[in-house]
Amino acid sequence: MKFFIDTADVGEIRDLAATGMVDGVTTNPSLILKSGRDINEVTKEICSIVDGPVSAEVTATEAEAMIAEGRHLAALAPNIAVKVPLTWDGLKACKALTDDGNMVNVTLCFSANQALLAAKAGATFISPFIGRLDDIGLDGMELISEIRQIYDNYGFETQILSASIRTVNHVKAAALIGSDVATVPPGVLRKLADHPLTDKGLEAFLSDWAKTGQQILK
Ligand code: E4P
Repeated sequence: MKFFIDTADVGEIRDLAATGMVDGVTTNPSLILKSGRDINEVTKEICSIVDGPVSAEVTATEAEAMIAEGRHLAALAPNIAVKVPLTWDGLKACKALTDDGNMVNVTLCFSANQALLAAKAGATFISPFIGRLDDIGLDGMELISEIRQIYDNYGFETQILSASIRTVNHVKAAALIGSDVATVPPGVLRKLADHPLTDKGLEAFLSDWAKTGQQILK
């Protein structure tokens, strides 16, 4: 499963990219607001740090205007994935932008039927929002599972990009289901390596090592 990081914070992106775990980045208007940066500048900078797809979201709501914004965003760097919302206008824009040869990420997906439409519109990625479904008492993971089954039934190549991830358990469940990508907030990505038994074991090894008086590099 590929990891994208869900942030427009270039400091976090640089730091995590150095781990080799970052296959791409997703942004949205709320994350651009949080960054305090200009969308064009920050998006270009992110694209220069990460080789993989960097999602940048249109903010128009009508198809023609979405297409114009999408073409502008796509021209910022070769690794841009234009993000459009899952509305009929967004689906029209998806078709036009993918026909142009751009990567398109269809976002704000909350149902399997919406995901089916996005695949038929040629989306490169579909972003089902797990956490926001869980927030209202529904089961976000069940949606990932349904989309996986539908895409496999028909051989759709649209990649499932599990989004709105809040916990390490979301990451594990998405991987078990076979999500192609998980977009993960930086804090959740960092937590994936944590285990108290790892810390305890390392402490014991280092303590015993100190008692040997040895050094590996002399
Ligand atoms: C990413 O593409 C989405 O915009 C993001 O994961 C949404 O996450 P949130 O529900 O935590 O805002």
